[in-house]
Amino acid sequence: MDRQSTIVILTGAGISAESGLATFRGPGGLWEGHRVEDVCTPEALADDPVLVHRFYDDRRAALTRVEPNAAHHALARLDAEWPGDLLIVTQNVDDLHERAGAQRLLHMHGELLSALCAACGDRRAWVESLPPGSHCPACGTGALRPDIVFFGEMPYAMDRIEAALSRADLFVSVGTSGAVYPAAGFVQTARHYGAQTLELNLEPSAGSIFFHETRLGAASVLVPAWVDELLAQSTT
Ligand code: APR
Repeated sequence: MDRQSTIVILTGAGISAESGLATFRGPGGLWEGHRVEDVCTPEALADDPVLVHRFYDDRRAALTRVEPNAAHHALARLDAEWPGDLLIVTQNVDDLHERAGAQRLLHMHGELLSALCAACGDRRAWVESLPPGSHCPACGTGALRPDIVFFGEMPYAMDRIEAALSRADLFVSVGTSGAVYPAAGFVQTARHYGAQTLELNLEPSAGSIFFHETRLGAASVLVPAWVDELLAQSTT
């Protein structure tokens, strides 16, 4: 790989697991005690806004008790040192990539530290709790909701992601089960356009067969080792 190569890295909940944030499809299939469809759909938000808003308030508050781990730091280092194009596309709604220092980063499923106005579409940084009916500073209606992409909603920045995948020389997936599209299909898109593909995960994901190479283990071990290897081997 030469250092002008384009790299796209997809991350999922597994990269934040060792920081203490629960993955979605852990034992029992519950996310922090809830079925994903009870807290992560537009229907759930309409039926029980108090529950959904409180759930994300709890997740937002939990961010203050966790820190980025070695995997986030290694990707931030790669971002800082890689002269070619690079994009980290995260499905995670936590802020651990940016707290580690990553800059070329997209949150395709939204962010806990952001509020979205369902009336006017305004998105703004939000660190406090967000009760239902909170007023949007942009349009004044009480339509603020967590800025989380629910099932059935369009992920953010798909145009930018598709463009990056079409140019990628290397696509790397870290800590994601490959259960949720469109992210689960990125490996096939990248391969279609000629990228080498690598999976770093605790166990083979649903799409493992689509990768040229799979390395199994903890992200905090695999990611720093891969970044060291890439930076040592790549030619200038
Ligand atoms: N290191 C590496 N991988 C790990 C680790 C770890 N320490 N711990 C867990 N994993 C792996 C698991 O083996 C699993 O394959 O991370 C993956 C986590 O999968 P999910 O819980 O399904 O999370 P993710 O793939 O990010 O979910 C995708 O689903 O509910 C939606 O929008 C939500 O963004 C989320 C999307």
